[in-house]
Amino acid sequence: MGESLIVYFSRTGENYGVGYVDKGNTEIVAEYVQELTGADLFKVEPTVPYSDKYDVCIKEAKERIGAAPIQATPPDLAPYDTVFIMSPIYWGTYAPEIETAIKDLDWTGKKVRVVSTHEGSGLGKMVADVTRICKGADVDKTGLAIKGSQAKSSKSAVANWL
Ligand SMILES: Cc1cc2nc3c(=O)[nH]c(=O)nc-3n(C[C@H](O)[C@H](O)[C@H](O)COP(=O)(O)O)c2cc1C
Repeated sequence: MGESLIVYFSRTGENYGVGYVDKGNTEIVAEYVQELTGADLFKVEPTVPYSDKYDVCIKEAKERIGAAPIQATPPDLAPYDTVFIMSPIYWGTYAPEIETAIKDLDWTGKKVRVVSTHEGSGLGKMVADVTRICKGADVDKTGLAIKGSQAKSSKSAVANWL
């Protein structure tokens, strides 16, 4: 296996099923993927942080669909063979900041593997949306969906999927 990159989004604060957290569910799983593959990690950060309050964040996320500025774009993909795209499910697909992060990269010939954390939607439309946005990529249609509240105990599920 060649070089890999993890592009992920994850939020701290109050969240569904886990209370107030200092580390988001997707970040916990991203660190397992990093540990097991040696991939480089890139965290997508919104320009304006989401509210700490879950019910406010829900509304903010809906307003950001299609227009979600980020602090920095991921690195050039040239050195990488495989890119893991990892996100919580927001409104049925990846967080809107993920689309901003991935939409202008050169995906030609890259292997892409999708991981979600969620509270019931599984992968939602994430694989379809990644396939639509990452033109020229070879997207693994299986993907991996981890229930957010079970992120800490997901290491063996991640290892099996890898
Ligand atoms: C704005 C928002 C929207 C969400 N929408 C969904 C959803 O549509 N389906 C679902 O199963 N979970 C949904 N969730 C739950 C998150 O996907 C889940 O808690 C996830 O593990 C959070 O990851 P994080 O801690 O890395 O941010 C939503 C959570 C938030 C904050």
